[in-house]
Amino acid sequence: MTLYMGLMSGTSLDGVDGVLVDFATAQGPPIALRAHHHQPFEPSLRTMLLALNEPGGNELHHAELAANAIARAYAEVVRGVLRAGDALPRNVRAIGAHGQTVRHRPREFDGTGYTVQLLNGALLAELTGIDVVANLRQRDVAAGGQGAPLAPGLHAALFAAPGETRVVLNLGGIANLTVLGAQGAVIGFDCGPASALLDGWCQRHRGAPYDDDGRWAASGRVIESLLEAMLAEPFFAIAPPKSTGRDLFNLAWLDNHLLRQAHDAAPVDVQATLAALTIESIARDVRRHAGEAAQLIVCGGGAHNSHLMRGLAAQLPNVPVTTSASHGLAVDQVEGVAFAWLAHRFCERQPGNLASVTGARGPRLLGTLHPA
Ligand SMILES: Nc1ncnc2c1ncn2[C@@H]1O[C@H](COP(=O)(O)OP(=O)(O)OP(=O)(O)O)[C@@H](O)[C@H]1O
Ligand SMILES: [Mg+2]
Repeated sequence: MTLYMGLMSGTSLDGVDGVLVDFATAQGPPIALRAHHHQPFEPSLRTMLLALNEPGGNELHHAELAANAIARAYAEVVRGVLRAGDALPRNVRAIGAHGQTVRHRPREFDGTGYTVQLLNGALLAELTGIDVVANLRQRDVAAGGQGAPLAPGLHAALFAAPGETRVVLNLGGIANLTVLGAQGAVIGFDCGPASALLDGWCQRHRGAPYDDDGRWAASGRVIESLLEAMLAEPFFAIAPPKSTGRDLFNLAWLDNHLLRQAHDAAPVDVQATLAALTIESIARDVRRHAGEAAQLIVCGGGAHNSHLMRGLAAQLPNVPVTTSASHGLAVDQVEGVAFAWLAHRFCERQPGNLASVTGARGPRLLGTLHPA
């Protein structure tokens, strides 16, 4: 038995997903998932993290305190996962801990750029008594890569089928695609905004954390001129490797478009248009990179949004749409398992990135270790 834990908190800023996985028996799907525990962020921490996504005063001070707060929130999730999995700290070989992305600017400025995931890994090791592997994106960026997405390696291990092209779609704050080619080639990249904008607009106008099942969006009318203007964003036309985040797709970006295209639009129609933006940008990328795909396997919280799921099926009539659950892993567990897998790779001294995905100069060992 070799247990690894994965801790993921994505760009939706909804909270932390923790999983406990046994990789010793993970020869193929379904993997041996021992436990899953989700914990929402405290509103005050969420507010602090949202603020750090934008330039502000005394950033170093605020970032360090946020990194401590995240370590404490992660430690609580570790306790929840251990309880749920009936395991002890000494049973866990290592934790793969993502941290919270507040800036993602690979290859920019000086050519190397940076990506920032806030997490005090030393404090997490101190609080849990378990080895922590953190800073999982930095080495890929140092090697000229995007540092993202990192889940495609796990997607390939779990979902690839020889002789069949499959696409894995993660619907998080940002949507990302992994194309598993019939001959074993893998590409992967960020498509564009998903929950980050859908949640943000819903919070502003409805005071709800997200648009449950996409019902609000489904009751609106798509504003075609706004949709076209948003789809003209240059990011959508860039060829992979590429990645993005709240640095680009945030409410200020949306407000800018509204000002020019639809300043008096009804909020419900804007929500419908944002859902259409997510669906259309993904469908275009699937047609462009994997038109012959035998399956589109969806995971991430957005898979609970049946308005998005119906829209994808309608835009991709030749590609059957399923979810990771029909391959043995619940939609909310895939990203967490990816970070447990990255910790496993680190401990085995195996590379975690796929250079064909991130554009790095080659395979690299990802992460820094904080021994228990
Ligand atoms: N019942 C639901 N109806 C609609 N949307 C939902 C529902 N449940 C979850 N979601 C969406 O899923 C989001 C959380 O998804 P997830 O945790 O996969 O994203 P994330 O943390 O940003 O991860 P990533 O790293 O992939 O960006 C929520 O913010 C919400 O938008
Ligand atoms: Mg999440």
